[in-house]
Amino acid sequence: MSSSLIDDAKRRAAYKAVDEYIPPTTKVVGIGSGSTVVYVIERILQRGKEANNNVVFIPSSFQSKELIVQHGLTLGDVDAYPEIDVTIDGADEVDEHLNAIKGGGGCHLREKVIAEAAKKFIIVADHRKNSKVLGENWTRGVPIEVIPFAYTRVIMALKTLGCGNPVLRMAKAKAGPVITDNGNFVIDAHFGLIHDPDDLMRKIKMLTGVVEVGLFVRLAQIAYFGNENGSVTEK
Ligand code: 5RP
Repeated sequence: MSSSLIDDAKRRAAYKAVDEYIPPTTKVVGIGSGSTVVYVIERILQRGKEANNNVVFIPSSFQSKELIVQHGLTLGDVDAYPEIDVTIDGADEVDEHLNAIKGGGGCHLREKVIAEAAKKFIIVADHRKNSKVLGENWTRGVPIEVIPFAYTRVIMALKTLGCGNPVLRMAKAKAGPVITDNGNFVIDAHFGLIHDPDDLMRKIKMLTGVVEVGLFVRLAQIAYFGNENGSVTEK
């Protein structure tokens, strides 16, 4: 599938979510991170200035903060708005129960905060992210944010949990580890098919030094996947 077809699929999913879940009465909207979320902002902007005048947007990352500010939308934060009407975010993979792997961009800690703060958490993605079981299509593993001091110990501990080869995520050109918006490292850990994401998430979260796991369990109300043929699958 060409990248423009994938972009079209992402765009359709994002537009559908905005149209269905951001009615004119909405006051506070959480904005996730990644390439699909760019189309969420695009659709919000198409609604025009008036529709967005009284809406406050809460970012989940440096990227989404920049998107909000650059487009003249009103920026808020979770301290001022601990309750969000709706959060729309991308995902790396979504299973049949709407559990998700997130953190391909290393933003899953803040993304989880604004997902949990939202009355409705909506996922938007292209069809490649639509799986029955986590681990079926997403080959980069579960992203785990760790404090730099503890990463070697966490890598050792992940092996005892059944992860064969946990990898410290490196920046492009291997200039050094990826640093999150919170000043931490990210480990990508493969567990094969994940039939019980809740159990795995809890076990990883118990490891000292782990800040957050990119497993989003029972958080999403709905997921929209854009398809190649122009349709949008809802689950
Ligand atoms: C970032 C994320 C993204 O939402 C996820 O990686 C999906 O990104 P994209 O929309 O580019 O496919 O979790 O941490």
